[in-house]
Amino acid sequence: MGKSLRKALKTNPKLWGGRFRKKTDPQFERFSSSLKWDARLLPYDLKIDAAHVRALGRCGVLSGKETKKLLAAIDALERRRQSGSLKLDGRAEDVHSAIQMELEKLVGELAYKIHTGRSRNDLVSQSARLYCKEHARTLFSLLVQVQKEIAAKARGCVRVFVPGMTHLQNAQVVSQAHIFLAYVEMLERVKARIQGAMPFFDVCVLGSGALAGAAFPLNQKRMAKELGLSAIAGNSYDAAGDRDFVLNFLSCLLFLGIQLSRIAEDWMLRQLNGVSLIEVDQAFCTGSSMMPQKRNADFVELLRGAAGIFAGNFFGLVTTLKGLPTSYNRDLQWDKKYLFDSVEVGEEILRMTARVVRTLKINKARARMLLADESLYATDLADYLAKKGEPFKKAHDQVGEIVRFAEENGKPISKIGLDILRTFAPKIDGDVYGLFDPEHSVRMKKTQGSTHPHEVERQIKRWERNLNHASISL
Ligand code: ARG
Repeated sequence: MGKSLRKALKTNPKLWGGRFRKKTDPQFERFSSSLKWDARLLPYDLKIDAAHVRALGRCGVLSGKETKKLLAAIDALERRRQSGSLKLDGRAEDVHSAIQMELEKLVGELAYKIHTGRSRNDLVSQSARLYCKEHARTLFSLLVQVQKEIAAKARGCVRVFVPGMTHLQNAQVVSQAHIFLAYVEMLERVKARIQGAMPFFDVCVLGSGALAGAAFPLNQKRMAKELGLSAIAGNSYDAAGDRDFVLNFLSCLLFLGIQLSRIAEDWMLRQLNGVSLIEVDQAFCTGSSMMPQKRNADFVELLRGAAGIFAGNFFGLVTTLKGLPTSYNRDLQWDKKYLFDSVEVGEEILRMTARVVRTLKINKARARMLLADESLYATDLADYLAKKGEPFKKAHDQVGEIVRFAEENGKPISKIGLDILRTFAPKIDGDVYGLFDPEHSVRMKKTQGSTHPHEVERQIKRWERNLNHASISL
């Protein structure tokens, strides 16, 4: 390493500085450094560096020897990264500068050539895309895992009947499996959104430079291929400052958060004292420092609350992007704080959710008790009358009156005599007493996707088939 280089490194670990007379304010330097976040981009940056070095070699900026030397150095850094022995210099402004510093340590002044025909603007935009692409795959497969666990749970409770609710009120009898399968559908839509976001990540923006393109004939097609990307950015001015791919990914995570929060709320309600339909395994609960009797389903609450993280990060970036001039602006650096936070929380809670689902207990005895509420069968009774030729609106009125009569007299409908029932609904026959049975209730459903046990079983089979072959493309 030359003397002047060592001196330069000591005083300037930056990728710029020649035109400055003053040193950067140390507090501002610490504040503006993104290394604390973007160190996560290290593996992607190294891949990009290798592709870029090969491109520089192909267009004659680097000799064959130089290309080899730089590729070997990048490879050495990658191996140290994998073994955990690569410690980036904390003085670096960002991960890109930190890598440059490491390369300088390995190959001296040759490292100065690597930044030919590129800017950190296209570099960071590329690196973040590769990060998104990989983590989209991870999230997708974690979602499949959770769906599989839920479908397996559903398999075990096709004939566990529970009150289904609307407006937080008991409404009609459904199979517990049917409710679980609703969660599988909800998560499937998150997967569809992630799949839809993939083309946004799958773009090669190298060659965009800072904004205007690069003055070297970098083979963008080759670089794209080497990085596993299928498209090349159409416009360098757009590519450097485009963060729609991050926003898109954050919106997928926002959808994930919304779905998980609704599922979590279902579980919180179903584990309420007095409802006690489900039990979250103790291993995912905590106690109270003051109230010895408490066992709180904390994981589920954290799952519900995580929606705030996803929404906050999405709105954070939306706010940063609003009104931002096109092309690169330093404001964009904040994107990674939002992105990494949402991705990391998303992956962690999905891993946990899979385990919580597996250990979730369904209280079948409680389910049977809750089904004693005969108002759950009121719709079945109205349908029964409609099938006997009563116009539905009239049947609805008649059953409403029967429910009111039963309530006022403190008697279940099934204990009211046929003669009295007929005063409200003349079309009622003796077979009416067979209606107040959960199995009968679900079997009355005739439509695709309904809670009829055959339909539920069909849904489970469909999911078991689909989920075994589920994979993200691109
Ligand atoms: N840390 C920066 C970011 O995340 C890298 C790009 C910096 N570009 C620049 N012109 N200062 O956006």
